[in-house]
Amino acid sequence: MKKEILQVLQNVSPIQLEEHALERPAYAHLGDFALPCFQFAKVLRKSPAIIAEEIAASIKHPSIRKAEAVNGYVNIFLDRTRITSEILHAVVEQGATYGSSNEGKDGVVTIDLSSPNIAKPFSMGHLRSTVIGNSIALLMEKSGFKAVKINYIGDWGTQFGKLLTAYRKWGTEEDVRKAPIETLLTLYIRFHEEAEQDPSLNDEGRAAFKALEDGDADALALWKWFKEESLSEFQRIYDLLGVEFDSYNGEAYYNDKMEPVVQELEEKRLLVESDGAQVVDLGEAIPPCLIRKSDGATLYATRDLTAAMDRKNTYDFVKSIYVVGNEQSLHFTQVKQVLNKMGYAWSDDMHHVPFGLILQDGKKMSTRKGKIVLLEQVLTEAIDLAHRNIAEKNPTLANQKEVAEAVGVGAILFSDLKQHRKHDIEFNLETMLQVEGETGPYIQYTNARAHSVLRKAGEVSAFVVNEVNDFEWETIKLLEQFPQAVKRATEELDPSVIAKYAVDLAQAFNSFYGNVKVLTDAAHLSYRAALIQSVSIVLTESMRLLGMKAPEEM
Ligand code: ARG
Repeated sequence: MKKEILQVLQNVSPIQLEEHALERPAYAHLGDFALPCFQFAKVLRKSPAIIAEEIAASIKHPSIRKAEAVNGYVNIFLDRTRITSEILHAVVEQGATYGSSNEGKDGVVTIDLSSPNIAKPFSMGHLRSTVIGNSIALLMEKSGFKAVKINYIGDWGTQFGKLLTAYRKWGTEEDVRKAPIETLLTLYIRFHEEAEQDPSLNDEGRAAFKALEDGDADALALWKWFKEESLSEFQRIYDLLGVEFDSYNGEAYYNDKMEPVVQELEEKRLLVESDGAQVVDLGEAIPPCLIRKSDGATLYATRDLTAAMDRKNTYDFVKSIYVVGNEQSLHFTQVKQVLNKMGYAWSDDMHHVPFGLILQDGKKMSTRKGKIVLLEQVLTEAIDLAHRNIAEKNPTLANQKEVAEAVGVGAILFSDLKQHRKHDIEFNLETMLQVEGETGPYIQYTNARAHSVLRKAGEVSAFVVNEVNDFEWETIKLLEQFPQAVKRATEELDPSVIAKYAVDLAQAFNSFYGNVKVLTDAAHLSYRAALIQSVSIVLTESMRLLGMKAPEEM
């Protein structure tokens, strides 16, 4: 709409107009758009008031009801009934596909997300990566890309040698079966404590990892078992969040695929020696990228290089995204630059999508020693709290358990996604679950309210728009902006655009519903039912794009 109006103005403007030249006035009596003319006065050698009058007089367009010159501004009033009718018919007809596009032309986007480490707790950082990455995937699909979600499991590295050693010394099968991650973490911590007294343990750990790398059957069987146990614990979290993956190829998958890559680096004369290790030099500004340690072991970066090349070969991506915390920025810069030096122009299509920490009382929520916050507990607690709220407010609701799950999980998702991902976010279950304010439950509740009105109003039938009041118009203008919000969120890889949009739409709808007597005004009922249905369609779709469920009753 804004673009269209800008074009209309451009046709009658003596001067080139930038998109930001067109403002959206804060008050309805000043119109839907306003063009300030002060900037033109100098060039045209006329007063802003006269310029505004001239522009206002020459505007003619079916979507514009009138253009007024006031104090050097051209205030533009849109034809509300015409536009409202267009938008509502479009939304009702298109349903969930409203706002979809084929901008991506089926290009593949690989998304590296979640990627927890086995035998370690699923951290708050992994939660953020899962939630943000999943939403980005949904946005990509909505915009016509093919999203491939890759869970790059951290299942390889020298720490597994230590874990094997610790298990053989102090572990029991029974304990691991009972509480896999907790037990394995305790063993790992004990290894470090005991190794401080007895450094020979470290040699044992190294030897155990070497055996694992060389395919020793016993080591491999233990490692596999630890991995399966860990993955099935993670799966419970993924089920709660409703997230699925297209690939679980993690670090171990690349164990036997790195040699050719190291060789290629060598052939391209990119490897140099530094203290016995082999590195790629990246100039003054960034530290060199470590490829192989002096004992011959490969590293995290070696595996990511190999994985990046494998993804290009397998998927021929147009974009390759890594949703990983801020603290790994240097790592991804290094990997990208090494690929660039190898001559791969597609390294420009790799994007690290960083995010901040989750804080509790201003401090990082830690998964280290003693202070483990088990994510599953947090999720369960949110669901329990939601359940208690529902039981109190709507005791007769049929599927309480299901709704509580949608609300509890939705609260966590929304509080994560409503701020720009780069910010640290404060974790507070009580605030997240409130139904007032900018929360997930607020959006869900608003949508459920829309459904309840629709149930009372009956099916949406054919409708005609005769007049549009200010409350309705505010809502319509937001509905019109949804495709634009999807586009921006996709381009900027930023789900918070959709979360903020959903808050605006919910607020506009609630103020409409609070001020307009919908059900008792038969003359406008079918048009308003179409409006309410459209709001519900777009809110539901917004929530889907954030990974949230949208209960129809709560
Ligand atoms: N497993 C890593 C961690 O927990 C994250 C992996 C991110 N993805 C990647 N391709 N490096 O820190």
